[in-house]
Amino acid sequence: MSLNVELLRNSFAMVVEREPQLTRRFYDILFTRYPQVRPLFGRNQRQEQERMLTEMLVKIMDHLEDEPWLAQQLGALGARHRDYGVTAEMYDFVGASLLEALREVAGNDWTPACEAAWSEAYGAIARLMQASAQA
Ligand code: HEM
Repeated sequence: MSLNVELLRNSFAMVVEREPQLTRRFYDILFTRYPQVRPLFGRNQRQEQERMLTEMLVKIMDHLEDEPWLAQQLGALGARHRDYGVTAEMYDFVGASLLEALREVAGNDWTPACEAAWSEAYGAIARLMQASAQA
């Protein structure tokens, strides 16, 4: 994938510095807007789930230029998500909620370039996760 790596890393660092609980806000948005996904969650405590998502996002940010890593790790993550019962439609719910959380925290610093870079990156991540899920 050819992503705007610098913009993604800088905006992610800015958002996490302003709001270390970014993933908490993300889950609030997800469960409020799409309550139908709630029953899928429950293996882990909410706080643990927030920590795991944050860690995975940090790792993805660290490997944006490492296509073999992305394909392998996101493929495996996607296969686990298929087992959790995640559907294609739910990837859109999560993308919309993640983008909303980022937008909200970044406030006036959220530019059209940020919006474009993040929707492209999320699309690529979701595709890699689902590619393996279909295999
Ligand atoms: C950018 C896309 C996503 C990332 C980076 C991500 C990341 C993670 C991580 C790191 C875990 C911890 C368990 C594991 O590693 O297998 C997890 C679990 C989970 N994710 Fe995701 N996820 C994504 C998309 C989604 C989507 C679209 C859904 C659909 C609602 C979803 C629902 C779940 C569920 C149900 C669990 C298990 C929760 C539990 O055990 O309570 N995720 N996710």
